[in-house]
Amino acid sequence: MRKSISGNVLMLALCLFGFGCSEESGEAENGSVSSDGGIAVFDESAAIARGQSILAPFKKNLQAALMEGMGQGPEHAIKVCQLKAPAIAGEISTDSFQVGRTSHRLRNPSNAPESWMQPLLDRAVASGTNAVPMAVSLPDGGAGYVEPIFIKPLCLGCHGSEVPESIVASLDELYPADSARGFSEGEFRGLFWVKFESAPTAE
Ligand code: HEC
Repeated sequence: MRKSISGNVLMLALCLFGFGCSEESGEAENGSVSSDGGIAVFDESAAIARGQSILAPFKKNLQAALMEGMGQGPEHAIKVCQLKAPAIAGEISTDSFQVGRTSHRLRNPSNAPESWMQPLLDRAVASGTNAVPMAVSLPDGGAGYVEPIFIKPLCLGCHGSEVPESIVASLDELYPADSARGFSEGEFRGLFWVKFESAPTAE
């Protein structure tokens, strides 16, 4: 069933897969006032643990979906990214949480940060290569979790400063406002995110 997959294609298979997610814990923003007026202590480590376990299949499925659409060249791989990334985010999301990706330099405008993500994104951009996962409580009783994504050599083919011409043509067509080129290796690329309807607690 698996046809010969060239190295090039294998590289492209990783286009949906965020690498370099650190295992370190981030900073906390503890304590939010619950609706009954009491102080609900935000369990940062529970939110991080839950966020990490939710993102694992998201990353895996993104990669698997692309592998499936492989073998037909980089332009095709780009289309798979475009169609499958939001679909998989939708499949992983449930009534109690949603997942996605965002960036300070967007390719797809529909990945724009929601308001709760913006300060975390700003903080991660300021930290650059030292960006770490972060969990925050949200005013509505929910919580957010984010993991940084860093640029690896294999990302450069579609996000670097010397993107091959055939890929440039496809990107220009699909993403006229693409700001996600010109990255260098190791650079902070964006965030995986999880938005919880209610803040996770230790099990
Ligand atoms: C085959 C070309 C290709 C490769 C290689 C590739 N990407 Fe992408 N990337 C895309 C496309 C196309 C999108 C837009 C997907 C969409 O429409 O949601 C995208 C979107 C993203 C996004 C979502 C934010 C945004 O700007 O819309 C992140 C984050 C991202 N890529 C990170 C990476 C990382 C990290 C790597 C290397 C591990 C990588 N990409 C490799 C093509 C690629």
